[in-house]
Amino acid sequence: MDKSRVATLHQLLNQYNYEYHVLDNPSVPDAEYDQLLHELIAIEEAHPELKTDDSPTVRVGGTPLSRFEKVNHDTPMLSLSNAFSEADLRAFDERIVKDVGQVEYMVELKIDGLAVSLKYEKGKFVQGLTRGDGTTGENITENLKTIHAIPLSIDSPLTFEVRGEAYMPRKSFIKLNEQKEKLGETLAANPRNAAAGSLRQLDSKITAKRNLSVFLYSVNDLKELNAQSQSEALDKLDELGFVTNHERALCKNIDEVLQYIEKWTKLRNDLAYDIDGIVIKVNDLHKQQELGFTAKSPRWAIAYKFPAEEVVTTLLDIELSVGRTGVVTPTAVLEPVKVAGTTVSRASLHNEDLINEKDIRIGDSVVVKKAGDIIPEVVRVVMDRRKPDAVVFKYPEICPSCGHHLVRIEDEVAQRCINPKCDAKLVEGVNHFVSRTAMNIDGLGEKIVESLFNEDLIQDVADIYGLTKEMLLPMERMGEKKATKLLEAIENSKQNSLERLLFGLGIRHLGAKACQILAENYMTMDRLKTVTVDELVTINDIGHKMATSLVTYMENEDIIRLIDKLKDYGVNMSYTGTLKTEIEGHPAFEGKTIVLTGKLSVLSRQEATKQLTNLGAKVTSSVTKKTDLVIAGEDAGSKLVKAESLNIEIWSENDMVKALEDL
Ligand code: IVH
Repeated sequence: MDKSRVATLHQLLNQYNYEYHVLDNPSVPDAEYDQLLHELIAIEEAHPELKTDDSPTVRVGGTPLSRFEKVNHDTPMLSLSNAFSEADLRAFDERIVKDVGQVEYMVELKIDGLAVSLKYEKGKFVQGLTRGDGTTGENITENLKTIHAIPLSIDSPLTFEVRGEAYMPRKSFIKLNEQKEKLGETLAANPRNAAAGSLRQLDSKITAKRNLSVFLYSVNDLKELNAQSQSEALDKLDELGFVTNHERALCKNIDEVLQYIEKWTKLRNDLAYDIDGIVIKVNDLHKQQELGFTAKSPRWAIAYKFPAEEVVTTLLDIELSVGRTGVVTPTAVLEPVKVAGTTVSRASLHNEDLINEKDIRIGDSVVVKKAGDIIPEVVRVVMDRRKPDAVVFKYPEICPSCGHHLVRIEDEVAQRCINPKCDAKLVEGVNHFVSRTAMNIDGLGEKIVESLFNEDLIQDVADIYGLTKEMLLPMERMGEKKATKLLEAIENSKQNSLERLLFGLGIRHLGAKACQILAENYMTMDRLKTVTVDELVTINDIGHKMATSLVTYMENEDIIRLIDKLKDYGVNMSYTGTLKTEIEGHPAFEGKTIVLTGKLSVLSRQEATKQLTNLGAKVTSSVTKKTDLVIAGEDAGSKLVKAESLNIEIWSENDMVKALEDL
């Protein structure tokens, strides 16, 4: 009885799933699907022997993995060469015509997600891989099974490999970020990063909740499908129950291709998913074969990449914030506007020089784009829309927080507040002190730190150790449980090894790595207080700038008092070596060749390099086709552009920090 019921449930659930996710035309309400699914889950729980690999229940996710297995692709997963202009496309067409004569082109949307390979054996989905480096990918079968648009089995005993793009629909992306915001987590920068993060989850139950989807666009062994052209192959995939993208079109010549591109350049924002270009493929498969491949890409196809989207919005204000080191950074406050799929309301203006060079004034209409589709930036002012009464922005001469005069240190573009008692600097200093790479005090978020300052409960980092439950409880959103946990975290941090404390103090030019070296070499704070520049520079990796900075810092009377205060509270002042842990590989980084570019603000470049290397990555300086991942901080330039053109995965600094924190 159960057995035949199981077969019926499989059949019904697969049918309803297909109607909903492939045909976009459900015949039953969601509740009915859920009810049948729960019935099947219950049967499988009672009779585990009835659970099969292609049961619809695998869609909810299974047992978490400890790592992703590496698997070689049967044939390499290549990428496409890029075109950025009409001229590039005409040159491509001329070459094709010269080699094989006039052709028809199949044009498809270039979905902005991640390439995946799906293997079917005798009609059953058996293995799903990421692209990886093109030769070797990661086995993400369990995660891919949670994507409803991927059939777990098809009505044909085919053994073949289908390739396509897994992506996160914009709706799912918005939902995910809303949830992340509620939980106080770092938001995903764009749907592609979110999709990448979701597919990299070792726990497929998490992937299942992310509502990913897929469009299939190629088949490895076309003989299996008996197709003569790309358009026939896609139609056959449709017939087999796969999702292909239906915005595709057959173009008779390159002029029609250009019209298609023009159309989608205008319409791309109306789609339910992100696209980053148009793929142009020679339709006839025999001609494709004649044209062949280069080492990296097929000669019969090219990807036209959209230029970075630029939109016009109003500059409402220029906000100035003071960082830990006193640097005053201007931020553009913008009338919220959608750029490249996400809403942008702020963009860094970097420094005074940039504002002057671009003559940016409050109230101006400004052109905004996202560099590398990640970091919002003000490109220029729309001068003919400038209001006659717009006044030149006058950069403040005094600190927006404490009123102390600002100084511009030689060779630097930044303006700095040099008042050691500046509130904004102190708040940022505490934020840095409690951060994960420093004293790692969980529960002391930026909002709480700010309130502690506002309530005069702390004036410096040492005061954190004087906090009591009585002081914390009256604060907003602070319950008994939260306060207890926070005090525990504060207490535990007293045992940290010296390098964390040193780093937490935020001594200029001393990153986490330098602090580690200093702690290892000098063992105690007392010795560091008396060390000389000459002595310090003899240590490998400690330069003159760092040495002078440390010695000057330790000579400062206020600092000596601060360190004594920390000591009196029982904060450990010596190197315990406990933090020199070598962490084992991380699936996102292990074996990957990574390039760091742009300004990193959370971790220093050295520290990021160290952490990534510890996790099995190779960090290199130039972007090549061998690069797996580019991590782009603020102001990233040519390397980011190159990575984009090579279609290399790009993460923001936040993505990296998040991945490291997930450890
Ligand atoms: S065809 C030899 N068609 O764009 C590679 N690719 O470098 C053939 N992409 O990572 C790819 N939409 O995953 C093709 N309709 C489409 C595509 C598409 C997105 C991705 C692909 C690859 C990159 C091209």
